[in-house]
Amino acid sequence: MTMDVAARRKDACNRLLRRAHAILDLEGSTPSALHALKLKLTALAARTELFPVSDFPMPLAQGRLHTLVAEADDGLGLHLLIGMPGKMSQPHSHGIWCVNASVSGKERHVLWRRTDDASKPGYATIARIGEVLMEPGHGYAMADLDIHSQEVVGRQPSVILALYGYTFERFTPVVWYQPEFSSVRALPSRRAGAAS
Ligand SMILES: [Fe+2]
Repeated sequence: MTMDVAARRKDACNRLLRRAHAILDLEGSTPSALHALKLKLTALAARTELFPVSDFPMPLAQGRLHTLVAEADDGLGLHLLIGMPGKMSQPHSHGIWCVNASVSGKERHVLWRRTDDASKPGYATIARIGEVLMEPGHGYAMADLDIHSQEVVGRQPSVILALYGYTFERFTPVVWYQPEFSSVRALPSRRAGAAS
C-alpha cells in the first residue's frame, strides 16, 4: 500500500526536523548550520508533489500561513506560507533565526542592515544590503536579528517553506522598521517565559 500525500509530507517534514536537530545540537544556529538547514529545506521544497495547492487553502487576500510541524516546548516550527500577488511586507526582524525555500511562484526578499546605534527609543535607520528572488530552487537563511522585507511578484501566488527556531505562533513579535520615518516599533513576545 502506498502512503497518501499527507502521510508522505508528514514523514518528509518530520525527517527534516530530525536532521535539523542533529545539525543544531552539534553546531548551534551558526551561519554554517543555517546554510546546511537552508540546503535541506530547499531540497524538501523541490518535492512539489508533497505540497499540492489543494491541501493548502489560499488566503482570501494578502497571505496565509499553514503550520506543517509545530514542536512543543518552544521547539522548531515548520510552516508553509502563501502570499498572493501584490502582497508586501515592511522591513522587519523576527528575533529568531529562520531559513526559507521557495516551492512555487516568485517573491522578492530585500535584506536590510540597521545603521544607527539603537540608543534612541523608537528611532532606527536601516540600509538596503541585498536581495534574493525567491523562486523554485532558491532559499536563504536569516540570523536572529536580520531584517527583511518581502513582495510577491508576478501573477502567481508565492508558496514558501519556512523553518523557524520557534513556531510562528510564538514569535509573531517582530520588530517593524519604517525607513521612510526612521522609526522602529517592537511588539511583545509570546514565547514561553517571555515578559509580554
Ligand atoms: Fe519575515
